[in-house]
Amino acid sequence: MLYAIETSGITKRFDETTAVNKISISVKPGELFGLLGPNGAGKTTLISMLSTMIEPSGGSALVWGYNVMKDADAVRQNIGVVFQDTTLDDRLTGRENLDLHGRLYGLDGITRKKRIKEVLSLVELTERADAIVKTYSGGMMRRLEIARGLMHHPHVLFLDEPTLGLDPQTRMHIWDYIKKLNKEEGVTILLTTHYMEEADKLCDRIAIIDNGQIVALDTPQDLKNSLGGDVITLGLGNPGDVDKLCNSYRKDGCANIITQNQNEVFITVNNGERQIPHILLLASQAGIPIISVSLRKPTLDDVFIHYTGRAIRDKEVSVMEEVGYKMRSRRK
Ligand SMILES: Nc1ncnc2c1ncn2[C@@H]1O[C@H](COP(=O)(O)OP(=O)(O)OP(=O)(O)O)[C@@H](O)[C@H]1O
Ligand SMILES: [Mg+2]
Repeated sequence: MLYAIETSGITKRFDETTAVNKISISVKPGELFGLLGPNGAGKTTLISMLSTMIEPSGGSALVWGYNVMKDADAVRQNIGVVFQDTTLDDRLTGRENLDLHGRLYGLDGITRKKRIKEVLSLVELTERADAIVKTYSGGMMRRLEIARGLMHHPHVLFLDEPTLGLDPQTRMHIWDYIKKLNKEEGVTILLTTHYMEEADKLCDRIAIIDNGQIVALDTPQDLKNSLGGDVITLGLGNPGDVDKLCNSYRKDGCANIITQNQNEVFITVNNGERQIPHILLLASQAGIPIISVSLRKPTLDDVFIHYTGRAIRDKEVSVMEEVGYKMRSRRK
């Protein structure tokens, strides 16, 4: 077996929507692989197909060498899944939740006891193991879910938005556990996230997905390097100048244009600090007033903007607005 996960043109259609559109990825054993994309990109749908929760409409996928459609049972034996929404029984204790899961997977009493001890210690929940889950914090619940996903020694672990809704400090804590179990237990991990920083910090490789398709796939560093240098953001006094400024940079060949909006132009250049005077000189020669300049290293958001023309965050905002709109119109 060459790959822990291998998909070939995997597709899922729901009526009008093509949630996952011909995605082909290969994840190596031991890899920590990320799917980064905005709300509705198709991340959960892809994980649901790989974990045999739903059937693909087209294409195929192998998980730990087993076909997700023909060998679903074998796939399930080899994977652990932590869903986006919690599936713990909060009336039971942490230990009872783990024990229940072990029973479902047919582990005998002695094996369950031993494994519960191991996974509790891995996520540092030993002390709270006998408290009712209802009394856990959000971060503790997530850790317990991760521990549960590991009970039956899966080769591949699917984590759907492992830190959604957690505060930044708890999020970093969870990152440590994810890294630890990837390194120490050697588990292959496929995680989804719409937090750029999470993908950047954790993953060996990332597939950026949008509208059910992969728009870029590489290591975080190479994705950022692919933009070619440092990002300079130029604020313009006059919105009408945006196209003119982009044209003058294109003609000069000193910069790559990432994107532009009404009064800002984002470009990348090599050796940003040294290039700023030249960039400003060109603007001044073209008679374009610049009112602000900033220089920074590229982020995965820049990569996303470069390939899709918009920010991951923009889409989130528009979803929120949509929800707000629906609520407002319902009230009428
Ligand atoms: N059971 C379903 N029936 C119809 N449409 C669905 C169903 N599940 C998902 N979709 C649609 O498929 C698309 C992808 O959804 P999916 O949940 O996979 O996105 P996601 O990337 O996980 O988003 P999020 O970041 O919000 O979790 C969306 O347009 C969604 O509305
Ligand atoms: Mg999702």
